[in-house]
Order: sequence, then structure tokens, then C-alpha cells
Amino acid sequence: METKVLKPTKKNVKYCAKLIKDGEVVGMPTETVYGLAANAFDEKAVNKIFEAKMRPADNPLIVHIADISMLKELTTSIPDIALAVCEKFWPGPVTIVLPKSDKIPLVTSGGLDTVGIRLPSNNVARELIKECGFPLAAPSANLSGSPSPTTAEHVYDDLNGRIPAILDDGSCSVGVESTVISFENDIIRLLRPGKISVDDLKTVASNVIIDRGVLEVISNDAKVKSPGMKYKHYSPKADVTLVSGSVEFFEKYVSERNSENTYALIFDNDNISDDIKSIRYGGNSIQQAERIFSVLREIDKIGAEKVYARCPSKEGVGLAVYNRMLRAAGFKVVKEGD
Ligand code: TXA
Ligand code: MG
Repeated sequence: METKVLKPTKKNVKYCAKLIKDGEVVGMPTETVYGLAANAFDEKAVNKIFEAKMRPADNPLIVHIADISMLKELTTSIPDIALAVCEKFWPGPVTIVLPKSDKIPLVTSGGLDTVGIRLPSNNVARELIKECGFPLAAPSANLSGSPSPTTAEHVYDDLNGRIPAILDDGSCSVGVESTVISFENDIIRLLRPGKISVDDLKTVASNVIIDRGVLEVISNDAKVKSPGMKYKHYSPKADVTLVSGSVEFFEKYVSERNSENTYALIFDNDNISDDIKSIRYGGNSIQQAERIFSVLREIDKIGAEKVYARCPSKEGVGLAVYNRMLRAAGFKVVKEGD
């Protein structure tokens, strides 16, 4: 199968909607990362998503809607706190987990009785959903385990020949996947950090609990609240280590281990020895979120074997960057003073 990369003109959006209506899967831009979209109600089509990206069947998909009116038929109950989140942060990068209705097949929800739902702010995504007339199940459009795609080219690199088309709307503005949350009375449980931060969520909830899967290793046979957290994720082929502490400690630590295929991931304003090959990944958390997945793909392209990364801040969207980096590093963190 030839994979077409298409500009998001009205005609091409219609063409992709037709493919999806015919049971195909299509690469779709969103403000967070590119998604691999199919009819959320169609078991066969959803199975094609799992096949194309070689995803484990128990990892549930997010269902994307174009308008809040599409929410009702997907769930059996919408607590007030969920509505408050939708009103405040939709359209935008937050996914809410609610009890699923019978319209959502179990393949879509990874066998769970809940469903993750999101109203993206990207116009092309919303046009595509509207044109289809049904919600679109869409995981990130990468091969399972590899860094999420933030450009159409990333999607093409992973899925060329496996899907019929990708709508190319340029680089994703946020760069990390949506914040995933569930609800326990008035409390929000953070299952995956994203651009909508803990502080943002605290403006609508009495409390926000950070699920232990956000910052801890979850074994593959563990029963967890968000199955995606237990899989090896975002992992480049290179061996990545996070180094926490001052830039002086970082420079010394890497210098002592430097070799031909060693690279450092540093912040924009860091100054380290020219003897260490380095890649900059942003000066603040927002820029780091935007660049992290491109940088993780780049280090594979240049054949890096060992990578040492400056540890990102955990504030705001920084928690999302840290969470992704931690997984890219297989949870290897070196701390100054340890
Ligand atoms: O920003 C995003 O969320 C992107 C774009 C394409 O929308 N999508 C995305 O999907 O990142 P995916 O499949 O790569 O990640 C979905 C995450 C997984 O960690 C999954 O376990 C969790 O959301 N999730 C989905 N449905 C869930 C549910 N019912 N209960 C708990 N976690 C759920
Ligand atoms: Mg993913």
C-alpha cells in the first residue's frame, strides 16, 4: 500500500473521511501529537489501528469528538466535575475517562468498561471528525513503543506502507500527548501528565491525585488504572540516562563517560565543554514539550549509543516532559549527591 501525505485542503479532508467511512485508518494531525484515526464504533476498523501500529490489544484508545454534543452517546454518566473540565479546557489537550456506553466496542476501550474521550483544538482534526459524522478512535500514530510523532514525516517514517494516507498539518503545537484524567467524586486522578497541568486541574477540582504510574515503574503484568503506562514507551534505540542536578555536575558526569557515540541532551542556555557532542532541547518546559519527541527520534538517526539528558523541571507541562523522558530512559536517573 502506498501512503499518501496530503495537505489538509477541504478536498483532501473529504477524501480521508471517505477512507475512514470505508473502514480505513488515516494519520490525523492534532495539537498534541499526530493520531492514527478510525471509526471508533467499527470493531474491524479499530482492529486495523492495532495492526498498523503493532499495539498490544489491552491498551485502550482515545475517542476524539468534534463537538461537546457528541459526548453524550459515548458514556453512561457525566459527573459535574467532568463537565467543568470540558467547559474549561475543551477544545484542548485533556482526555477524560468515563464509564463507556454500549456504542463503544471493547476493542476500542482495550477491554475496559471505561472510555477516554477528547475534543481536540486542531481544526483539521475537527473537520475530519465532522466530515465522518462519527467519533474517531486515535492513538498516537507511531509504531508501538517508539517516540510519538509530532510531524507528518514522523508518521510516514513509522507507518509508510501500512496506512493509506496522512493529513499533513505541519508540526504539532503542544508536542506531548494529552493529559489523561479520571474522576473520583470531586477529585481528579492524573493518569498521564500533559499540557493541562496539575495546577490547571486544581482550578476545577477539590484535589488532584497524581497516579503512581506517572512517576514509578509499572510491571507489565500489573493491573493499572491506565494500561498505557505499563508499556515501554518513547524509547529510542540509544541507552538514555537522566542526570538530575546542576549543569556543572552534568558536565563532569558526562565527561567521565564520554565516547564517540555519546550525546548530551541539554537546555538551550546550558554551556558545556565542546568535547561533548550535544543537542539542545529547549530553554523552558513549553519548548521542551514541543521538541522532546523530535529530539528522541533524531538521536536514533544520528546513531547515538549513549545519551545523557539534563533532567527537566517537573513544574507545569514540565511534568509531562519528565514523565516521557523517564520512560525514554527506562527509569534510569542519576542524582547529584547520590
Ligand atoms: O494527545 C493524545 O492523547 C493523542 C492524540 C492523538 O489525541 N493520543 C494518544 O493516544 O496519545 P495513545 O493511545 O497513544 O495514548 C492513550 C493513553 C494511553 O496511555 C491509554 O492507556 C490511556 O490513554 N487511556 C485511554 N483510554 C483509557 C481508559 N479508558 N482508562 C484509562 N486510560 C486510558
Ligand atoms: Mg501513544
